Amino acid sequence: MARTYWWKEAVIYEIYMKSFKDTDGDGIGDIRGVIEKLPYLKELGINCIWFTPIYPSPQVDNGYDVADYYGINEAYGGMDAFKELLSKAHALGIRIVMDMVLNHSSDECLWFKEARKSKDNPYRDYYIWGDPKEDGSEPCNWANCFNDGNGSAWTYTEETGQYYFHNYSYKMPELNWKSEKLREEVYSMMRGWLALGVDGFRLDVINRIKKPDAFHDLESVNSLGYAEGGKKQCSNVPGFEDIIHDIAENTWLLPQYDAFSMGECGGVTSENALRYLDPEKRVLDTLYHFEIVSRKKEISLRDYKRIEAGWASLMEKGVWPIQHLGNHDQPRLVSKFGDDSTEELRIRSARCLALLTYMMPGTPIIYQGDEIGMVNTYFDNIKDYNDRYTVGDYMERRKAGMTHAEALFPIRMASRDNARTPMLWDSSKNAGFTEGTPWIKVNNNYPRINAELDRSKPEAESVFRFYQKLISMRKEHPAVINGDFTMYLPDDDHFVVFTRHDPQSHEILLVIANASSEAAVLPEIPEPAVSQKNHETLISTTGNDFEIDKDCSSPRTFLPWEAYVLKI
Ligand code: GLC
Repeated sequence: MARTYWWKEAVIYEIYMKSFKDTDGDGIGDIRGVIEKLPYLKELGINCIWFTPIYPSPQVDNGYDVADYYGINEAYGGMDAFKELLSKAHALGIRIVMDMVLNHSSDECLWFKEARKSKDNPYRDYYIWGDPKEDGSEPCNWANCFNDGNGSAWTYTEETGQYYFHNYSYKMPELNWKSEKLREEVYSMMRGWLALGVDGFRLDVINRIKKPDAFHDLESVNSLGYAEGGKKQCSNVPGFEDIIHDIAENTWLLPQYDAFSMGECGGVTSENALRYLDPEKRVLDTLYHFEIVSRKKEISLRDYKRIEAGWASLMEKGVWPIQHLGNHDQPRLVSKFGDDSTEELRIRSARCLALLTYMMPGTPIIYQGDEIGMVNTYFDNIKDYNDRYTVGDYMERRKAGMTHAEALFPIRMASRDNARTPMLWDSSKNAGFTEGTPWIKVNNNYPRINAELDRSKPEAESVFRFYQKLISMRKEHPAVINGDFTMYLPDDDHFVVFTRHDPQSHEILLVIANASSEAAVLPEIPEPAVSQKNHETLISTTGNDFEIDKDCSSPRTFLPWEAYVLKI
């Protein structure tokens, strides 16, 4: 089968099943909930769903600790429900992308349970083992990034007197990609999912699967006595792309499938991206990077524009970017990049950020709830937090002598739980997410922000209707998908201005956005609008048409987050 590159035209919706929709009252979302909401997703217009891991798992990291790569978590409904979902989604023209966690498994995975038993167990080399140092301590002094267990990236096993390696929780041992047997097993497992009908994979922390040749101690340790640089040492280790290439050739690139791959790749920039995304190298179809979206980092508007322009410039070499400003690992995009201080600004900034995401080149991803402008959820009690990073950071800060408030309040903004609280469906109990007790608290702003209410608002005030329109524009205007990209005003601190020009249809779309919470004067009308004064407003965050005076000379003041797409 020839590859159709369907993902270039796709709009992906990311579902964090646990928090999406519960139908059996156990407080966690389930597959039936997704089936129930397929018409909602269809109405929104998306045509692909990416599920974060829904395999059996002890849920130490909400599914990213996989206990059985061949199954579907019974708490979500099990394999039969999944098959039903797959066929119902396909019938609606919605593809399904599964999350593949190939860097680590759960310690409750059969592979690890076997591997730890003895040095000659057939599964032993599926994992990474190290001998104690002479004093019996860990093979090296790296921290695990969840700060759990004793904080080390190595955990001792009595059975064989060796340590196993884990960048994340001690419950998430890392897989050894030097093992031929592991590779073969993973390939065959992934082919099983493709044969079942899934349409591709999102590959979790895939650029960490190659480890450095040796594990050396690092300087500067945290309050638990371990060095935090370990994760970086395992990122983008030269040659990791060869491993992915091998996975690709044995799975999604096989000619009988038309499947897609999207890597999660921290540390990849537009400067080094060709190593992984040059189509001729047959590594990944696309990836998402952390140059813009990063939990703890703030980014200036100038940097945002520079980074987007850098990725767009790779498109002539066949690179296909991903566009997103939020996911299950990030704060809510409106709270982070937009403005949730008033209702008006929340709605307008949510619409503006959506407009930018959809008009920039590449495939957009919506994270559940962003289509109604959901915002961060802050808890005062650490017990209400589930995110391993937040809990780990908090414990470490307490150990370093901080009070409860000092330890928690500054880190709440970066908590991954901001995005993981339940989807807000309506104004009934628990926002319509569950009849039972939700596994994590529901944001108590749900009488004000919920899908039912948002969709009932006039078009100019609804975030959902705005997304819907942007998605349909993707279908109606070829420049949105295929257009060349030209950035204007790169050094302006308020405006994002660019064109998308489709050489085939000659369509030119001009985007002008005040991406800030201040009213701002557009310093100049971009050249394409001046030279071709006829323009049609395709969409705007205010609901109004764009107006410029005839000679384009007088300054035009934009409201905060006022933005337009013009066809010129
Ligand atoms: C990825 C996932 C994140 C998870 C981590 C470890 O970054 O997106 O949720 O905690 O990998 O699997």
